Formats: sequence, C-alpha cells, structure tokens
Amino acid sequence: MAVLKANAYGHGLLPVAHELAGRVDAYAVSCVEEALPLRQAGLDHRIVLLEGFFQANEIPVFAAHRFDAVIHQPWQIEALEQAELPGPIDCWLKVDTGMGRLGFTPEDAPAAAQRLRRCSQVGVLRWMTHFSDADQVNSSQTEDQLARFGAVIDTGDRASAANSAATLRWPSTHQDWVRPGIMLYGSSPFAEPAGHAALAPVMQLEAPLISVKWLPAGHGVGYGGRFVCPEAMPVGVVAIGYGDGYPRHAPNGTPVRINGSTAALIGKVSMDMLCVDLRAVTQPRVGDRVILWGDHPKAGAIAERCGTISYELFCQLTPRVQRIYRRGPVNGEI
Ligand SMILES: Cc1ncc(COP(=O)(O)O)c(C=O)c1O
Repeated sequence: MAVLKANAYGHGLLPVAHELAGRVDAYAVSCVEEALPLRQAGLDHRIVLLEGFFQANEIPVFAAHRFDAVIHQPWQIEALEQAELPGPIDCWLKVDTGMGRLGFTPEDAPAAAQRLRRCSQVGVLRWMTHFSDADQVNSSQTEDQLARFGAVIDTGDRASAANSAATLRWPSTHQDWVRPGIMLYGSSPFAEPAGHAALAPVMQLEAPLISVKWLPAGHGVGYGGRFVCPEAMPVGVVAIGYGDGYPRHAPNGTPVRINGSTAALIGKVSMDMLCVDLRAVTQPRVGDRVILWGDHPKAGAIAERCGTISYELFCQLTPRVQRIYRRGPVNGEI
C-alpha cells in the first residue's frame, strides 16, 4: 500500500500514483480531497483513507468511489450503522497498540470489530495499527506493539502494520500489507547519516545561481548580517528561498552542490533567495545549477541540520517549485 498523502510527500500525487500503478495493490491518502483526484484520473486501485471519514456526510462519497475507511472512533461505527448506501464500504479497524494517536484500545477493539461485522454497510473488515518507534534499533516498543496487535486481530490474512521503518528494519511486522511512505521517495526513515544505503532519492531540488560577486572582508551577508565575510570572497545568490519551501532555519554551513563541489550556505535564507560561499567552487558562473538536495547532499542530511526530518522538507515545497519528471534507474536499468 503506497502512502501518497500530502501530495505524495510533495512529489506530486498523480505523477507518483501513475508511476506506481502497476506495482502496488493500494494507495493510502489522508482525506477525500486527496483520494478523489486518483479516481478522477482513472486509477482503479484500492484507496485507503488513513483517517477514515471525518464526518458522517462523507460516507456516501466513500461508497460512491469505493474508498476504504479506517475506523478509529465509536462515532464512525454509529454513523456507518445509520448510513443508507448503495453498497458496502471496506473498512480497516485501527488499533492503538501504543502510538497514542488514532485507534481503539486493544481491549475495545474486539467489540468494535464485532459491531462492524454485523453492519451491512461494511464490506471486508481488515486490521491496522501504526508504530511509534520502528525507526529505533534498541527499543522494545515495536515488539510490544506487535504483540498487542497479534493478540487482538482475529483474521490471519487481513492486517497491516508496517510503515517504512518497520518495512526495512522489522520483517516480523510485515503481515499482509506494508504501508511504506518515505522510502518510496528514496529517503530514509532512519536518522542520518546512517540512513539506508539502498534507497536512491527520487527528488533532486535545484535552482540556478543568479549572481556571483566578490564581497570584501567584514561585509555582512543577508538579513541581520548573520554571516560576515572573514576575507574578500566570492558570494553566490541562488534563486530559491523559504517561499519555495527551503527551510528558513538552515544554518550557516548547510551544504549545497555546485559544479561537483560542495559549497556552504551563508546568511539567513530569504523568501526567494539564499547566499552561498563560493570559495570552494571552481569557476562558478551565473546560470550554474545548484543542487539543494538529492543524491548529494541528501534531504535527510539537510533536515538534520535544520532540526527536522526529510518528510517535512518534501511536504513544505510550495507550488512555485516546478516539478519536472524524468524516469530514473529502476532495478538497475536506465
Ligand atoms: C498510518 C500511516 N501509515 C503509514 C505511513 C507511512 O509512514 P512512512 O512515511 O514513515 O513510511 C504513515 C505516515 O505518516 C501513516 O500515518
């Protein structure tokens, strides 16, 4: 089940959905607004809405478009019981095995399952849980959650638990449906720099160098002069900023790649621009492509410098960033 919520983690819902169409059994999104475009694009896959319907008036939309609903609250069961639908909706009963977010307690889940099975508006019933710590190597939480889930599910073939971290690190959690998100985009769910070597980034974020000039020693760079030139030095301006989703809190020294060299971000990131120290770059020229993240540097490494995770960097890319799609290596082929 490919997790495509938040505009496919910023990569573009429909291009990613089409690319994965022959390779996955289901898509997962977070709301009706994300699910409808998939159906409207003619994609016939199972579509699971990970938070189910937010209000009872969405239930007919689920029935009309064959969306699967995750059921995590008693009111949702009542709403299904009262709904009049042209056909049943497949449901996933969410069990809160320790995440402390959505789901019935393991104690309440069996009764909820029984009610859902008796409800004629419910088609196939499956089980779901979500891990809080699957990215950790030394944590008993994942094993504990898995044990609680195993104790409550009563069908052997209809359960889903694993996000990317569990898919990669905890094979015992795979069960019937894995739900990878971040790894589909080639980014690691684990803390950098260890990351996960087998993942190749799908996204390369780049922008042009639009100014190259020398500043004298002692000259400040950008708002508040956060960086002061220690010597006369070449400074470049790159046409990307927080208005595009590049993190405003990126500190001095955050790496970018120019002409095969690594250069350091200097000064505060502006809305549309950021400045770079060009001392380590051979013959920088206006028009050169600057790679903000991709193969090198990795989004996860940039995220770590900014106190966040690659998920957030991807999701906060704004519509101003033009998405250009090019097919890369698949299974070693170009
Ligand atoms: C319920 C659920 N399943 C799966 C995922 C995918 O997680 P990841 O991107 O870490 O693989 C998410 C993402 O947050 C989620 O909320």
